[in-house]
Formats: sequence, C-alpha cells, structure tokens
Amino acid sequence: MSFLKPITRFTTPLVAFGVGFMLFPAEWRRGRWNTRQISFINENAMNKIQNSSLYRELDQNESVTKSYNSETFPSQHKKNHIGSGILFGPDLFEVDPVLFINDKTGEVTGFYHLGKGLISQDGLIHNGVTSTILDEGLCRCGFAQLPSKKGVTANLSINFHNQAPPDSTVVLRAQVESAKGRKVVIKGNLSTLPIDDESSIEIASATCILVEPKWFKYLAWLGI
Ligand SMILES: *[C@@H]1O[C@H](CO)[C@@H](O)[C@H](O)[C@H]1NC(C)=O
Ligand SMILES: *[C@@H]1O[C@H](CO)[C@@H](O)[C@H](O)[C@H]1NC(C)=O
Ligand SMILES: *[C@@H]1O[C@H](CO)[C@@H](O)[C@H](O)[C@H]1NC(C)=O
Ligand SMILES: *[C@@H]1O[C@H](CO)[C@@H](O)[C@H](O)[C@H]1NC(C)=O
Repeated sequence: MSFLKPITRFTTPLVAFGVGFMLFPAEWRRGRWNTRQISFINENAMNKIQNSSLYRELDQNESVTKSYNSETFPSQHKKNHIGSGILFGPDLFEVDPVLFINDKTGEVTGFYHLGKGLISQDGLIHNGVTSTILDEGLCRCGFAQLPSKKGVTANLSINFHNQAPPDSTVVLRAQVESAKGRKVVIKGNLSTLPIDDESSIEIASATCILVEPKWFKYLAWLGI
C-alpha cells in the first residue's frame, strides 16, 4: 500500500455543492426514468465486491434493500451523476455502484470501484471524486427524512484523511444523525474495502446538512 500518503487534514465546507444535480429533474417529477445501459463493467472488481463479507452480510439481511446507483437517479441527471455519465467507463467508475439501505436504521452502505482514470496529478484518486461520492451518498441517506423526500445540500463539510490509490474499491457509510422538520444532518465516511486480510484505509469523513426549501411543498401540492 505504498501508494497511500497521508495528507494534511483539512476541512472544506462546500456550500450548496449538490444543488445543481438535486434540483428537480423533469423526469423525476414525472416519476419515471429509463434504466441506463451499462457500457463497461470491471467484472473482477464486481466479483471482489460481491465476495466480500460486508457485501454478503448486507445482501442476506432481510431488512436491507439493495439497489444499483443507475436505477435510483433519473437519466437527466446522468451527466452530473457519478458512476453513470461522464465518469462511468473504463478507468473511471468501473462498476455500477451498489447501494444498500437498511430499512430499519436508514443506514446506507455503498460500494464503488474507482478506476485509474480518476486520479489527480499526484497519481491518487482525486478529492473531487471523494467529495462527489460523499455528497450523493449522504443526501441519499437523508432524503427519506424530509417531508417531501426531496432536498438540497446546504452544507457539506469533509475531512480528508488519505487519498485512495487508483483501482480501489471503496465503501461509503452514512447514517442520519438528526432530523427535524425540513433539516436533516447526516454523517458518513468513505474507506477502502479490505480484500482478504488487508486492513481498511479511511479516506474521508463528512457531515452533510440537507434541507428542504419551504417552497418545495408547493411542488407536492401541484402533484409534481
Ligand atoms: C471468495 O472468497 C473466498 C473466501 O472468502 C475465496 O476462497 C474465494 O476464492 C473468493 N472468490 C473470488 C472469486 O474472489
Ligand atoms: C440485519 O440488520 C439489522 C439492523 O441493522 C440488524 O439488527 C440485524 O442483526 C441484521 N441481521 C443479520 C442477520 O445480520
Ligand atoms: C458548514 O459546516 C462547517 C462545519 O460544520 C462550518 O464550519 C461552516 O461554518 C458551515 N458553513 C455554513 C455556510 O453554514
Ligand atoms: C462511518 O460511518 C458510519 C455511519 O455513520 C458509522 O457507523 C461508523 O462508525 C463510521 N466509521 C468511522 C471510522 O468513523
């Protein structure tokens, strides 16, 4: 694991980072969207994910629902949406990210494989990729708590711990910390999926404040 290099810890608040892609795609309002055609899959990476004890535990748990990332977002979002649009393909996101949602606790566990095309100049996975996964994963976890089940990221604060090496499989974990009215606070983290007896490396942890703007309810009244 000599690829890994600890970086200076820093926190960056990304205000309204997710607004662009969370804001009402027309297809979502109509409640239907097409299933994306997957153009490339790294089968080896997918096998490793599916064979991991974490995956198998979740897959076998009756109170946990599995979904593929491509099914949970409307295609209109795909150009922004990770793992589905520009970031999906050989050397990029190499599997269709798998999300498990625990129906009882609301906890979200996601699996992603990051190809070697997602690196920054230093040869490690770009922090922007880490931020995007955390933003989406934490929002996904918080939506269910909002009155209209829709919201925007008001504040995403990320602590970067280590950059992932290229060709890493990473696990996202997210859990709602508090939910009150139109505001939900979600905490989560991203770490590498340990294969065999390797230990997991913590990549980043984050806190997301998800809000539902007051006017969102009018969309519900209008049946949007
Ligand atoms: C799956 O895991 C088991 C042990 O956990 C191992 O023996 C087997 O080779 C693995 N299979 C694949 C395809 O990685
Ligand atoms: C399934 O998940 C629930 C909630 O997290 C947990 O309490 C339970 O022990 C899990 N069941 C199994 C069989 O792992
Ligand atoms: C966002 O959250 C961070 C950490 O909790 C905080 O320091 C920052 O002031 C917040 N920014 C805004 C605009 O609320
Ligand atoms: C990662 O997040 C999950 C869900 O919030 C939490 O249960 C777990 O303790 C966190 N792990 C670390 C190392 O912070």
